[in-house]
Amino acid sequence: MGHGKLRKFAENLGFPCLLQPSAAEVLDKSAGTFAVRDHAVKGRWNDQMFSAARPIVLELGCGRGEYTIDLAQRNPSCNYLGVDIKGARLWKGAKYATEHALGNVAFLRTRIEMIEAFFAPGEISEIWLTFSDPQLHGENKRLTSPLFLERYRKFLRPGGIVHLKTDSRFLYEYSLAVVRENGLPLLAATPDLYGEVETVRRSALASVCGEDAVDALVSVQTYYERMFRDQGYRITYLAFQLDGDAPVRRPAAFDAEYWLSVEGPRHFVRQS
Ligand SMILES: C[S@@+](CC[C@H](N)C(=O)[O-])C[C@H]1O[C@@H](n2cnc3c(N)ncnc32)[C@H](O)[C@@H]1O
Repeated sequence: MGHGKLRKFAENLGFPCLLQPSAAEVLDKSAGTFAVRDHAVKGRWNDQMFSAARPIVLELGCGRGEYTIDLAQRNPSCNYLGVDIKGARLWKGAKYATEHALGNVAFLRTRIEMIEAFFAPGEISEIWLTFSDPQLHGENKRLTSPLFLERYRKFLRPGGIVHLKTDSRFLYEYSLAVVRENGLPLLAATPDLYGEVETVRRSALASVCGEDAVDALVSVQTYYERMFRDQGYRITYLAFQLDGDAPVRRPAAFDAEYWLSVEGPRHFVRQS
C-alpha cells in the first residue's frame, strides 16, 4: 500500500465526522454471510454524529463525498451521511467537512451489505445512489435489487425517497423495472437528465425534490459523473418511494440481454 493511502488512513482516525466500525462489530458470524447485529449508533445518529437533529439523507457509494457535501451546504435543514467502503476516498470528504466545520455532514465506512445494522426504523428520510456500480452480471450486488431495497425499507421513513443518478442505461432500466414490477410509487424518471431537465421535466422534478434539489441534480457533478459525461454517456435519473411491506420481487419484464448489449464500454481514469 502506498504512503499516500497510509497517511489518509491515519488522518481518518482523527476526523470526528467519520465513523469506521470494524466488520466484527456488526457481523453476526453465527447467522451467515452479511447477517448483522445492531451497531451502537443505530437510532442515535442525530445525537452522536451531527450538530443538531434534522432529517437524515444517505448517499450510498459516495466515493469522495462531493455530492453529500454539496447537498449539505445547499440545504442546512437536513443532515447528510455519505457511505462508502473505501477509506482513501472518504478521507477527502471527511477532511473537507472537518476543516469547514460542517455540522450536518458525516461519513460511514462500511460495506453497504451491512447497512441495516446502523439505522433504526424511520431514521433515514432519503437515499441517494450516485453512479453506483451497475453490477452487470450480479443482480444481488446491484444497489437497486430486491435484496438491497428490502434492506433500505427497514430504516427508510414512510414516504421516504430513493434517488438513482447513473450513467448506466442498464442500471436505470433495471431499477425502473423493479419499481414497476412492485408497483412502487414512481416520482420521476428520465433517461436523459440534462436533455430534459431544462425543458419539460423541470417542474415535475421540482415538485418531487424541490427547486434546490433540481438545481443540485444538474449542477453538482461527482468525479464519476464528469468522467462518464466526458465519454459521451447520458445521465439518467429515477426517484421512487419504497412504501409497502410485501416482499420486493425481481423484475420479470427486464430484458437484461438487450440492455447489456447497448451498455457501452467505460474508460476508467484512476482515482485514489
Ligand atoms: C463508481 S463509484 C461512484 C462514487 C461517487 N458516487 C461518484 O459519483 O463519484 C462507486 C462507489 O461505490 C463504492 N461501493 C461499491 N460497492 C460498495 C459496497 N458494496 N459497499 C460500500 N461501498 C461500495 C465504491 O467504493 C465507489 O467509491
